[in-house]
Amino acid sequence: MREMVLSGRSVHMGNLILVNEKHPIAGEMRFSCVPVDSRHPGILLHTRASSCLAQLLKEIRSEGKIVPVSGYRPKAEQEQIFKDSVAENGWEFTRKYVALPDHSEHQTGLAIDLGIDQENIDFIRPEFPYDGVGGAFRKRAARYGFIERYPEGKEEVTGIGGEPWHFRYVGYPHSEIMEGQGLCLEEYTEFIKNYPYDGKHLRTGGPGKEIEIFYVQDEMTENPSVAVADNAIAESSGNNVDGWVVTLWRQ
Ligand code: DAL
Ligand code: ZN
Repeated sequence: MREMVLSGRSVHMGNLILVNEKHPIAGEMRFSCVPVDSRHPGILLHTRASSCLAQLLKEIRSEGKIVPVSGYRPKAEQEQIFKDSVAENGWEFTRKYVALPDHSEHQTGLAIDLGIDQENIDFIRPEFPYDGVGGAFRKRAARYGFIERYPEGKEEVTGIGGEPWHFRYVGYPHSEIMEGQGLCLEEYTEFIKNYPYDGKHLRTGGPGKEIEIFYVQDEMTENPSVAVADNAIAESSGNNVDGWVVTLWRQ
């Protein structure tokens, strides 16, 4: 066994951070972002999310059919988008489709808006259908770690209107569990607490691959840590609320 340390600051970092009206991003985020696609060098995503998205788009041969519309946004950009939208579309529309500055997943580098490549692309609500290439993308998204973040019907939970174009990288296998169980990120953040470190863990995986997931509550102790088997690859992510989700992989 070895100890994996979960630093206090990291509650606010990782693929599973919940960013919404109640849970703002914690300060300036420091991470590296890269373009998803060389033809759109200004549209950036967190390195890992970017490479997963690029692989997914390649698998469905979407070149010339799907365009990245908006990825990482610095705070100043989110502020400008919010302000411009209030002026152009009014307060009600804006609150439905644009998150308040510091409450937007776009500031994390883990969210991407996708659109069908066409002449006029609506920047706030790009068209991204459920059939054709949009359907092909959705069918494989969870395998590459992405979820449709704001589904129709979950507006009361997410606080945001249905956004068929906005995808969030949460990482595999969390994406597949969320999709399989019909959970949005707010719900998954709670669901995973049913599997605490000192209780029964969530187990998933496939032939020859075992995945174990559990929740560690932030007790505000100086050096929180968990014991991890030597033969396991361990990943952790803060939930941006009150703890961490630990994922263990074994061959
Ligand atoms: N459109 C999403 C909610 C954002 O502005 O972050
Ligand atoms: Zn978006």
